[in-house]
Amino acid sequence: MIILFGNQKGGVGKSTLAVLFANYLSFVHNKDVIVFDMDNQRSIYNKVQAAKVLENVQLYEVEAANVDQFNTIHAIVSDKENLITILDVAGSIENDNLIPVFKGVDLIICPFAYDEYSVGSTIDFSEVVKTLNNKVNIVFIPNRIKTNVKYETLESVNKVLSNFGAVTNPISERIDFQRINSFETPHTIRQVVTPVFDSIFNQFI
Ligand SMILES: Nc1ncnc2c1ncn2[C@@H]1O[C@H](COP(=O)(O)OP(=O)(O)O)[C@@H](O)[C@H]1O
Ligand SMILES: [Mg+2]
Repeated sequence: MIILFGNQKGGVGKSTLAVLFANYLSFVHNKDVIVFDMDNQRSIYNKVQAAKVLENVQLYEVEAANVDQFNTIHAIVSDKENLITILDVAGSIENDNLIPVFKGVDLIICPFAYDEYSVGSTIDFSEVVKTLNNKVNIVFIPNRIKTNVKYETLESVNKVLSNFGAVTNPISERIDFQRINSFETPHTIRQVVTPVFDSIFNQFI
């Protein structure tokens, strides 16, 4: 199974939630996981390399790869039934190399925020993805939700997004998300993400 963390909007938590979900799958469900960091910024890959120097034991492999290697990766991982492959991509829908990715993945997890610009990008992204692959499941995760803010558009946004896929419960804005790693998820973060990840796992994996 290949899961893409995607949204053309930057800063919505794709890389962060990709790592936390990989930790969750391997730690909670004992799944074989491999992560391909396909974002040119290599935020996940570089973090893992830095942590390896400190001799941390990894839960799973993290590889750096380019988007145009997707077909090769797909061919390698698709006959490994028990392996869950996680892709982190920057996500710009203008990148033609992403077309095979959108066509070839089994599930897209799409973090977003309830601000106008993020919602617009998220809808554009979903339209492109669904045009290329109308069978793919998309799961939207409202992320970085501030507890003291009233999100006036929440219901109408969720309604629009539900035309493309499922919307999970929100994940709150928390300072400790800035320090996550691919070796273990701190208890405080686990409490926040586990219910959301459980709902995705139970429905789609
Ligand atoms: N729930 C959250 N609470 C607080 N900070 C978050 C949360 N999710 C992500 N972040 C932070 O937001 C920034 C962007 O997240 P990142 O995962 O790099 O986004 P993307 O990969 O979509 O560009 C990072 O500094 C990350 O630590
Ligand atoms: Mg990223």
